[in-house]
Parts: sequence; structure tokens; C-alpha cells
Amino acid sequence: MGKLDGRVILITGAARGQGEQEARLFAAEGAKVVLADVLDDQGEALAKELCEELGETAAVYVHLDVSREPDWIAAVAAAKEAFGKIDGLVSNAGILRFNELVSTPLDEFQQVVQVNQVGCFLGIRNVAPEIEAAGGGTIVNTASYTALTGMAGVGAYAATKHAVLGLTRVAAVELAAGNIRVNAVCPGAVDTPMSNPDGVDPAAVGELYHKLVPLGRIGRPEEVAKLALFLTSEDSSYITGQPFVIDGGWLAGVSLF
Ligand SMILES: NC(=O)c1ccc[n+]([C@@H]2O[C@H](COP(=O)([O-])OP(=O)(O)OC[C@H]3O[C@@H](n4cnc5c(N)ncnc54)[C@H](O)[C@@H]3O)[C@@H](O)[C@H]2O)c1
Repeated sequence: MGKLDGRVILITGAARGQGEQEARLFAAEGAKVVLADVLDDQGEALAKELCEELGETAAVYVHLDVSREPDWIAAVAAAKEAFGKIDGLVSNAGILRFNELVSTPLDEFQQVVQVNQVGCFLGIRNVAPEIEAAGGGTIVNTASYTALTGMAGVGAYAATKHAVLGLTRVAAVELAAGNIRVNAVCPGAVDTPMSNPDGVDPAAVGELYHKLVPLGRIGRPEEVAKLALFLTSEDSSYITGQPFVIDGGWLAGVSLF
């Protein structure tokens, strides 16, 4: 028995990184997964691999730019056509831009808001009614360590991740009557393409997190996937409206030694 047998879960940003690991784990736990992304080749290849491994109806890929409502409407229709319902959403797609606030162009700020914040809102708006129609389920939004504290150089990103927590709390209150639980994961530094930008020495990244993080290392996307599984499964049946920090102790404080 898998923890997600009989469930149909849509995961955004599922082509790589944390979303990919969530898709792999959820499918292994028995869910039908709807992989959504803008990286079509990678997303389609992953869906094909999951179907070959777990059965031909294990996964489908849909093109979904989370900032565009017509894409949400089409993705929901495609998911229902494939599996008849949707009873879970993991809003994981996100982008990061580095700039101090006074140097951030308005269009860059708005682009980050459009993907990270509006994308999360559109997920709730378009998928929650489907989850309620299916009898209830779960939404997991992907916030960040920077949803709970500041970090120089990522002002637009941190603002959107704070907003994701606001959306999560309000959605939890509004959707509880429809038997929908809504929570957020708040990862610290996780080893994905986002935290390894082109041109940055991986050894320097490793050394940085060795110093900054009490557990002495960067996180693995598989570890975030396990938290998303907990929040999507019945194991978290009495939990809603909460941020869950997964950061190796980074937010707990600093060490002088
Ligand atoms: N890696 C970290 O250290 C870290 C830390 C905290 C939070 N996060 C958050 O975790 C989530 C996953 O990030 P990741 O680390 O796996 O990064 P990633 O860059 O590897 O993956 C992000 C995925 O989102 C997709 N995406 C980007 N814009 C999109 C859009 N408009 N529509 C649909 N898909 C889109 C990308 O194509 C990619 O597949 C993000 O929300 C990110 O902000 C990451």
C-alpha cells in the first residue's frame, strides 16, 4: 500500500529539482501524477520514465506556465481527462533573481511576483474547486527560508515567498470547510539548479553551506519531497495553514565557533 494510492496530484515545476523528486516519490507512493512545467522536453521525458517504471497511467506531462491563467485552465482539463479528478496540488514552480532592491528593475520584480506569487494564487484559484469536487484533499505551497527572514540580494524573491505564506494561511481557513488542507514547505538551501547558478563554483557553494548551516551541508531535493509527501498524505491529517521549515537548522541561529 502506498501513502497516496488513489490520489491524483498536480505538481508544478516538476521537470527538475524539488518538483522532479516530488513527482518520483509521489508516483512511487501510488499517486497518479500530473507533471506541469515550462521545460517540456525534460517534463515529458520524466513522465515517460515514470510510466515505463510504474505503469502506463502513472503520470502525464502538461505544459503549464503558472503565471498564465489560460494554461491553468488547460492543465486542469488535461488532468481530468487523463485521471477523472484532481485531489492534490503541489505549487512548486519558482524563479530566483539576485539583485539589491535599489538595483532591481521593476520588470524583474514583477516577473518574480508573477511566477512565485501569482502562480501560487492561480493554483489555489483553479485547482481548489476541483479538489473540493473530488471530496477534499491537499495543497502544498513552496515558500522558502526567505519567507520567514530577510536575505540581502533576494528582495523580490523574499517578498513573494512571504506572500506565499499569507496565501497559505488564508487558503487554509477558507478551504477547510471543503475538506482541503493547505500547508507550505520552507526549504533553506537545497541542491538543485536554482542554488547552483551557471558560473558559480560548486565547491564554493558546498563550503558556504558547510559554514552557514548547523547540519553542515546543503539539503537534498529528495528530503524536501519527503516533507511534501507528509503534508499531502493522511499522516498530516490534522495539520493545516502551517509553514514547515526544512533547512538543516539554518534559521535556528548562528554559531560563533
Ligand atoms: N533550491 C533551493 O535552495 C530552494 C530554497 C527554498 C525554496 N526553493 C523553492 O523551491 C521551488 C523549486 O525550486 P528548485 O530548487 O527545484 O529549482 P529549479 O530551478 O531546479 O526548479 C524550478 C522548476 O520550476 C519551473 N518553472 C519556472 N518558472 C515556471 C513557470 N512560470 N511555470 C511553470 N514552471 C516554472 C522550472 O522550469 C523548473 O523546472 C521553488 O519554488 C523555489 O523557489 C528552492
